[in-house]
Amino acid sequence: MAFEEKIQMLLNKRVEAKLGGGQKRIDAQHAKGKLTARERIDLLLDEGSFEEFDMFVTHRCTDFDMQKQTYLSDGVITGYGTIDGRLVYVFSQDFTVFGGSLSETFAKKICKVMDQAMKVGAPVIGINDSGGARIQEGVQSLAGYADIFQRNIMASGVIPQISAIFGPCAGGAVYSPALTDFIMMSKENSYMFVTGPKVVKTVTGEDVTDDKLGGAMVHASKSGVTHFMVDSEQEGLMLIRKLMSYLPSNNFEDPPYLPTGDPIDRLEDSLNSIIPDNPNKPYDVKDVIHAIVDDNEFFEVHRNFAPNLVVGFARFNGSSVGIVANQPNYIAGVLDINASRKGARFVRFCDAFNIPLVTLVDVPGFLPGTAQEYGGIIIHGAKFLFAYGEATVPKVTVTLRKSYGGAHDVMSCKQLRGDINYAWPSAEIAVMGASGAIEVLYGRQLKEIADPEERAKFVAEKEKEYNETFANPYNAAKYGIIDDIIEPRNTRFRIIRALHALASKKDSNPPKKHTNIPL
Ligand code: HXC
Repeated sequence: MAFEEKIQMLLNKRVEAKLGGGQKRIDAQHAKGKLTARERIDLLLDEGSFEEFDMFVTHRCTDFDMQKQTYLSDGVITGYGTIDGRLVYVFSQDFTVFGGSLSETFAKKICKVMDQAMKVGAPVIGINDSGGARIQEGVQSLAGYADIFQRNIMASGVIPQISAIFGPCAGGAVYSPALTDFIMMSKENSYMFVTGPKVVKTVTGEDVTDDKLGGAMVHASKSGVTHFMVDSEQEGLMLIRKLMSYLPSNNFEDPPYLPTGDPIDRLEDSLNSIIPDNPNKPYDVKDVIHAIVDDNEFFEVHRNFAPNLVVGFARFNGSSVGIVANQPNYIAGVLDINASRKGARFVRFCDAFNIPLVTLVDVPGFLPGTAQEYGGIIIHGAKFLFAYGEATVPKVTVTLRKSYGGAHDVMSCKQLRGDINYAWPSAEIAVMGASGAIEVLYGRQLKEIADPEERAKFVAEKEKEYNETFANPYNAAKYGIIDDIIEPRNTRFRIIRALHALASKKDSNPPKKHTNIPL
């Protein structure tokens, strides 16, 4: 064959590979409102930056006459490219080839990019759209999944791993995304479940649709499996680019710095009047977050799950931080099982990737009741507490209003190695609120007062006394539990200065194989 013919052959093969399972199946993919695996990569990465691996890989299966059906790339597109000029590794499952199902060689392709990402310290982004294990390959496929799982585990805490779910993701296949740091699901067409509706019907008799069982809304709001829910694949891919802008490429790097024109000493007068006079009245903590961070930009994570705790990324003077804040606007910002799980996972992510933590506290305590106790609030609350206590990144805390009981300790208190703990003048740092405290402290006397009016007067007097002593930040400041009481409108400046002072912080945990966090 002449040299030119050889080149032509290469070009022809490339064209063939780019067609995946063929034009008909590409059309079917588009008809469902889905993009192809390659289109997704093109949108995700900087234009022209994609370098593909293993385009000429085909499966090796001969059962079911499979040798007669081979496709170049074998159902997954892999390689590397850049996002805002920074290196990332990607794999994108191609539903047009055997429904994106995973074969031995498909798994090997994913493992190759993961191995290389680990060597160079770059994030891995996986786009999932697959019918699961390739049925014709049997155990080879199961082994392939486990090879990927093992790599997900080894990469955890070393390089950021992000999963997008833009199609089916069922059975054991869900566990690779579940092992990664962030999951995103598109509202249409995507679902994740361990067993599908048919099996559910057989085993439990329950009638349920794909969407009700494992659609984006379910996992964004009920299970918390997905961190992000997006209206379209395009929006999802842009969101991943944005998320990346807050993250370092690996655990040895600092997060990227993004210069800002937002003055560090910007005073935010609205904050001086944001706390309602009535301590039981809510306000939106996101207003506080937006007011203090660079350019009022907050990238929220897990928005629909446990909204009583707000977590997400922002920047102070150009540097990434993780923000954790109780949300008085939703069930008074109380800590429950889901909020504890959400907070713990976020804090651990930030700590693993050198992202300082800024915590805004307004918490009345833990949610009481049998549902919470039976569900293991003790263990889940402990998880959140553990996450803060083991974190060695800079930790700056501002108590805005309530900080009661065990929840006070959990929310990055001084004794959990909180570095700088500020409070607003509206802070109330105590074992519990006044009414609860009076019931306990004066229960016997209250029983003896028969006249309701006299009783109410007694309670009001005692509550006043209690509030004057405890419902303020000065008692905590007296003991150094609070480092300073700050004017709310100056919060941005004080946090930036604190983070600046802590930039060179070095802290460590004793050597061990690993912790035994209460899971
Ligand atoms: C081989 C598969 C496949 C699979 C789909 N296809 N899933 N081929 N192995 N797992 C093929 C179909 O034969 C079809 O081929 C093409 O992909 C598209 O599939 P359709 O069924 O036409 O598409 P759609 O109607 O959109 O349905 C998609 C689907 C359905 C819901 C994913 O295909 C499905 O239920 N597939 C089986 C899912 C499954 O049970 N997987 C195993 C789960 S167990 P043609 O040639 O017609 O285009 C598992 C264990 C993992 O994954 C364990 C890890 C530890």
